[in-house]
Amino acid sequence: MSLRIVLLPGDGVGPEVVDAARTVLTTVATRDGLSLAFDTHPIGGAALDLGLPSLPDATRDACVAADAVLLGAVGTPKWDHLPRETRCETGLLRLRQAMGVFANLRPARHWPGTEDSLPFKPERIDGVDMIVVRELLGGLYFGEPRGVAADGQSGVNTMRYTVPEIERVARVAFELAQGRQKKLTSIDKANVLEASQVWRATVTRLAADYPDVTLSHLYVDAASMLLIQYPKDFDVVVAENLFGDILSDEVGAIAGSLGLLPSASLGAGPGLYEPVHGSAPTLAGKDVANPAGTILSAALLLRHSLKREAAAARIERAVEQAIREGVRTVDVAGAGPSVGCRAFTEAVLARL
Ligand code: IPM
Ligand code: MG
Repeated sequence: MSLRIVLLPGDGVGPEVVDAARTVLTTVATRDGLSLAFDTHPIGGAALDLGLPSLPDATRDACVAADAVLLGAVGTPKWDHLPRETRCETGLLRLRQAMGVFANLRPARHWPGTEDSLPFKPERIDGVDMIVVRELLGGLYFGEPRGVAADGQSGVNTMRYTVPEIERVARVAFELAQGRQKKLTSIDKANVLEASQVWRATVTRLAADYPDVTLSHLYVDAASMLLIQYPKDFDVVVAENLFGDILSDEVGAIAGSLGLLPSASLGAGPGLYEPVHGSAPTLAGKDVANPAGTILSAALLLRHSLKREAAAARIERAVEQAIREGVRTVDVAGAGPSVGCRAFTEAVLARL
């Protein structure tokens, strides 16, 4: 029986990078005797262009029923004037909610061969390998009440966290840490925010279930500095939605380019996999986008949704080898020569 993979190319460079990742997935699947059935659906501006909402019902239903979903990017200047309710980004947030993907894994590591484009001393980041686990369905993104007052003179959002919401994402983080260096850093602002006080108390209580994991806590302001100053000290980091959104971009600087960052969003059902970068409309259609973030997201899809660890690791090694050997897209090439999206993908395929 085939596993059903829904592809959501979306906007901007999305179609190019999803195409690259699909080619890699197909190659690996053929080799491993894994049968994948791909099904493509519109989301974001691509859906609005068809006269549909930014998350069409058919797209949502296909995603919820799939074995896994691979998304490119959403957002296009053409539809930036829309109110929040109908925007491209709202389509993505609704999809996360419909799929119940509450834990967003964002690995950030150093890729040897990208040193030229990095603002770090090599010895600071050599060997850095961390994962930010971002809570994805709570906090300020979804809390009620929210809105802009009728007179336009004030706006309000609500950061609310319940114990079950914190527990389920914290357990994902503890379990990940158990399979890695067994270090978990929980990030909050418990010196000021009540939602953070409940967060810290809950994570601390759960630690008793994971005696092999060393848990520490940091305030988000201190964490934002330490993550960059001493990135080697971190293994797994867990944070609420907005803190995780911000910190995962920050540690992305260690990889050297947003184009190298994959993500996995997990819940009880199918996982949603997407590069951390956006639609990059100015790069679209020019064969210059870096497909690595999406190819690496496909590796996460194999690891977490299809339980194919060996295949996932093989893709990661092929990307690592290509970059190490100097096959680099323009965003990580520094002053050196660069290749396009398709040539990078070919280089990965050749090293699988
Ligand atoms: C991300 C993005 C999204 C978010 C936007 C596009 C809604 O910044 O995936 O990090 O804030 O979650
Ligand atoms: Mg973000």
